[in-house]
Amino acid sequence: MANIFLIGFMGSGKSTVGKQLAYLLQYDFIDLDEYLQKQEGATITQLFEEKGESYFREQESQYLKSFHASEKLVLSTGGGAPCFFDNMKWMNENGTTVYLKAVPKLLADRLKKEKDHRPLLRGKSNDEVIDFINQKLGEREKFYLSAKIIVDAVSLNGKKLVHELKVRNII
Ligand code: S3P
Repeated sequence: MANIFLIGFMGSGKSTVGKQLAYLLQYDFIDLDEYLQKQEGATITQLFEEKGESYFREQESQYLKSFHASEKLVLSTGGGAPCFFDNMKWMNENGTTVYLKAVPKLLADRLKKEKDHRPLLRGKSNDEVIDFINQKLGEREKFYLSAKIIVDAVSLNGKKLVHELKVRNII
């Protein structure tokens, strides 16, 4: 069984749904952000502040690609991962990509409470968060839309995603 990569903007529910999906399929679950933080011994905020975003992006790409040999893995990626280097192409060649699609309003509502844990949102007012999401989603969606499967992130859960993957003959 090939790996399943969950992609989408911050707040789209990749980690929550990914854990449920892995449990239902009896796959292992990896949250790429958490994995990277453990390997690096630092939080993402620290990495952005101390080593810069480009260092983080390089590490993110390397850790992502380190999972090429494993299988039966659900991997939730950071919101920016598909949009740097050839990461999206690589994921499409090495597993099934699933885009959890959500409109900016929903993402903003979910992210308002969690701004401080995300370096790209830190210090922004709620209005600035909405502007940021609108702009970034505009830049990023072309990458996200090249996913093999696109699902509506609103009220998505592991069970619904299992159904979708069965309908599409992925599992
Ligand atoms: C980022 C999303 C975050 C994390 C980092 C950068 C982004 O992951 O990788 O803060 O560029 O959108 P989540 O989407 O899991 O929050």
